[in-house]
Amino acid sequence: MSFPQVRPRRLRTTPAMRRMVAEHRLHPANLILPAFVREDVDEPVPIGSMPGVVQHSVDSLRKAAVEAADAGVSGIMLFGVPEEAKKDAVGSPGTDPDGILQRGLRAVREEVGDALVVMSDLCLDEVTDHGHCGVLDEAGRVDNDATLERYAEMAVAQAEAGAHVLGPSGMMDGQVGHARRALDAAGHQDVALMAYTAKYASAFYGPFREAVNSSLKGDRKTYQQDPPNAREALRELELDVAEGADLVMVKPGLPYLDILRAVADASPVPVAAYQISGEYAMVEAAAERGWIDRERAIDETLTAFVRAGAGLVLTYWATEHARRLRAAA
Ligand code: PBG
Repeated sequence: MSFPQVRPRRLRTTPAMRRMVAEHRLHPANLILPAFVREDVDEPVPIGSMPGVVQHSVDSLRKAAVEAADAGVSGIMLFGVPEEAKKDAVGSPGTDPDGILQRGLRAVREEVGDALVVMSDLCLDEVTDHGHCGVLDEAGRVDNDATLERYAEMAVAQAEAGAHVLGPSGMMDGQVGHARRALDAAGHQDVALMAYTAKYASAFYGPFREAVNSSLKGDRKTYQQDPPNAREALRELELDVAEGADLVMVKPGLPYLDILRAVADASPVPVAAYQISGEYAMVEAAAERGWIDRERAIDETLTAFVRAGAGLVLTYWATEHARRLRAAA
């Protein structure tokens, strides 16, 4: 009897064989496109640390939304970049019906209707002059409960502008329940919440700071989770679900696949992973130097999220990758 009889390589012999036995497949419907919309620009502004990603004008955002929908992408997650002079300590552009995020939401809904799930970032960091995700107390610390009041007003402003789903991303305690109550009280029972359930204080948000012209000095370590900790992700999951989260998310993506798996195993609601700006930048930078095969790397990272249990993936490559998936199907 010759050895080995069991040869796993048999199932790897041809592309058709590998395709047949693939355990996980990405579909354009798994993908959500995060997008930035900037006030007072007529043309999209490139983001240096995220080659291929731009701060959209309202017009170019409309086009990007249509392209995403045409490619089969499920949703779009909007972030607003207000004029510098409008930022203040309490993040007024966040609740102004004419604030850039609200204008972007209205434009996208007008353009695509319900063809995309239209989502928005429910956070103060893009609109405060200090760049923190909340309002500050006299000692300069982020005041959790005062911040919740601002999130409640923002939630209603975003719902009124047409968001289907809000993404509370500030990591304040109680933010999901508080936003839920505010939405319900204002008659927006149908607007869903995608909780940033496990969100870690990460170096990989670096390029995002440029993308939103962030004013932050310092860090977010007193509110975002500490990278060594896994257990508290499950505690955050329990709380978010109890507070009424319709969807939950893990972020960043690649450095936290273990957290994603744990959350996916425990969650009674759909689970998303956010492949963040720094993950995008790493692949683009290495590919630019010819150090890795860009398209294979993109496919491999996105497949890793699905394998680790994500049903949804937020990625800046959503439209591009959805097109590729369609062409290959
Ligand atoms: C907070 C928020 C951040 C990101 C999404 N929402 C930045 C942060 O927490 O520092 C990061 C997304 C990315 O890096 O792609 N509003």
